[in-house]
Formats: sequence, structure tokens, C-alpha cells
Amino acid sequence: MDMKALVLSGGKGTRLRPFTHSLAKQLVPVANKPVLVHCLETIRDIGVREVGIIVGDNADEIEKVIGGNSAIAADMHITYIKQDQPLGLAHCVLIAEEFLADDDFVMYLGDNVLGDGIGEAARRFRQTRPDAHLLAAKVSDPRQYGVVEVDHDGIVRALVEKPEKPRSDLAVMGVYFFTPAIHRAVRSIRPSGRGELEITDAIQHLVSSGAKVTAEAYPGYWKDTGSIDDLIECNRVLLDRCAGDVRGQVDERSELRGPVIVEEGATVSGSDLVGPLVIGAGSVVTDSRVGPYTAVERDCVITGSAVENSILLEGARVLGVAGVRDSVVGRWAHVRSAGGQERNRVLIGDHASVEVAA
Ligand code: TTP
Repeated sequence: MDMKALVLSGGKGTRLRPFTHSLAKQLVPVANKPVLVHCLETIRDIGVREVGIIVGDNADEIEKVIGGNSAIAADMHITYIKQDQPLGLAHCVLIAEEFLADDDFVMYLGDNVLGDGIGEAARRFRQTRPDAHLLAAKVSDPRQYGVVEVDHDGIVRALVEKPEKPRSDLAVMGVYFFTPAIHRAVRSIRPSGRGELEITDAIQHLVSSGAKVTAEAYPGYWKDTGSIDDLIECNRVLLDRCAGDVRGQVDERSELRGPVIVEEGATVSGSDLVGPLVIGAGSVVTDSRVGPYTAVERDCVITGSAVENSILLEGARVLGVAGVRDSVVGRWAHVRSAGGQERNRVLIGDHASVEVAA
């Protein structure tokens, strides 16, 4: 039996409010694909078929989106594992014990994007089979992360959560390879100060009890899409890697520059599209300038506006507004011009944030 995968898609997602009031954090799209779909594709690329997904309150929505993705459904066998409360990453391993059984597995945080895949790390883990193998990224301020101290031969000597005086600049990322040795470790630890069973404590337990834990620096693009700015940045990087592909209708008054994706069923007229960008199926763009670095999901409307470096979720509308930049517009949310009036009228929901040209 080859490896399984455990994908963590529960949690609260408080830092991504207001979008996570109505949408699971892992379903927020970057480059018009939910982050969770990017995760599953990365896992599929290392040949893993058996996947357990930890789900919390948004279980139904996640099952609907992932179950409705025919490419994933064809390649992967998915088991949903309900976590009643987000009690920590190690708690997820604990409740997945029956699914994981005696198999090695890759644990993948469902809000992490690794732009260059995990093929090299999976090959190294399969070849050398340490008890745990971690991916780490060089970061400029390690004090905000779990930090690994590694020997010259890649052996982990210690793991420290948010150290005041970091002894390395290697932060633990959201992808871990484990043998079944992790099960005893997650049963041996106690909840941390914040009341969660921490995976770093479980891995430190492995290190302290003499197990072999290794780490490698990830050379590619990595983003934990924890905050809105992270999402916008990740969207830019992934769009930058897309090739243009125009399938929808674009009239002769429109001009396209750079890699532009217009999905089937989208309509563009009298507009400048500056790639990289994607216009989703069913969206209508009229007399506007869109891009660069903009992802417009399905069924959006942009009229008489300019939108740049932004993400528009399903059904969003931008009407008569120039200079929408660095923005995320939620599902079926509208941004419209006050029609020359000297006022800003805002009807916005809980935890939303608006910046107006005052
Ligand atoms: P976090 O980003 O650490 O937690 P969170 O989703 O609650 O976010 P926030 O801090 O904004 O409130 O979680 C990392 C990933 O692991 C994320 O995809 C959610 C998932 N997760 C679980 O599935 N179960 C858990 O108990 C925890 C803590 C996280």
C-alpha cells in the first residue's frame, strides 16, 4: 500500500473574515480554483489516491464542491472525517487513526498552496522513510512560525514554536510526511496554552524519543493563505503561471494583452483585458479595463469600471467604479458608483472592510 493523504479542511478561518462567514476558508478561490482543489491536485500529482479530508462546520459545502469536481472524483477516493471542534492539527491525526491505519501518509493543511508541487519531497520520504519528514521554508522573521533546527545532513534536532531567539530561519510549512510512528506521539501530548493539540509538540515528542525526523528546505513558491493579503499575492503568483486561453465571446472593440483566460460562456465587449487574468464562465465584462492580476469567478458583472490586482468571487458586480485595486469582492456582493453624488453609501456585512477615497 502506498501512502495516503490527510487534508485538513476544518478550522475557523477567523483571519479570512468576512468571506469565511459564509464560505469555508479552503474554498476561497485563487486563480479561480478553491485553494482546497489546488491542494488535492498537488497530492494527486505524487500518485496518492486514498485521501481523508478533515471537515468541520462547513462539511456539507466542502463535500458538495469536491464531490462535484469530476476530475478529482475520477482520480481520488475521498473519505470525509468530521471534527466536531477545531482542537488542533495533532487532534486531526488522532481522529483519523482508523482511516490512516498502518499506512504512511502526507498531512497537508488545506489552506496551503505549494506552487511547485511536492514531488521531490515525496520521493525523498519514500526512499529514506524517516519517521517524519517536514518541509520548511526560509523566512525573514522566523519568530512568527514553528522553527526547525536541522543538522547539515537534514536531521531535525529541535522544533520550537514562535521562538524569541530563533536558531534557524527555517519555518515549518503546512506539509508533513509521517509513518505510523506519529500515532503514539499524538496520543502522548497534552493540549498547549491555547488549548490545542499541536503537531509541533507531537513531532518534538518524536525527536525527543529518538525517532528519525528529517526536514528539507522547499525551494519553490509557498503560501499559507491565512489572510486577505496572502490570498491576493497567491492569486498573482498562480495567475502568472497560467497560459492565455480564450473560449468565451470577445467582441472586436475589445483589446487583449498578455496571458488572458476567458472561460467558455463569458462575454467581453468594449473592454481592455490586461493579463495575466481570468474571466470565469458566465461573467459579463462591458466597457471596462480589467487586469493585470485579476481573477473574476463565474457569473460576475463588470460594467464601466477598472479592476486590477483583485479577486471577484462568484456573482460579484462592479458597476461604474474606476480604480478598484487590491480588492476581494465576496459572492454576489455589489460595488457601484454613487453616480456623481458626494457621498459614500456602504451596506456591508459583519467584519467587512472598505477603504473609500475620502
Ligand atoms: P489554522 O490556519 O491554524 O487555523 P484556522 O483555520 O482556525 O484559522 P484562523 O487562525 O484564521 O482562525 O489551520 C490550518 C489548517 O488546518 C486550516 O486549513 C484549517 C485546518 N484545521 C483543522 O482542520 N482542524 C483544526 O483543529 C485546526 C486548528 C485547523
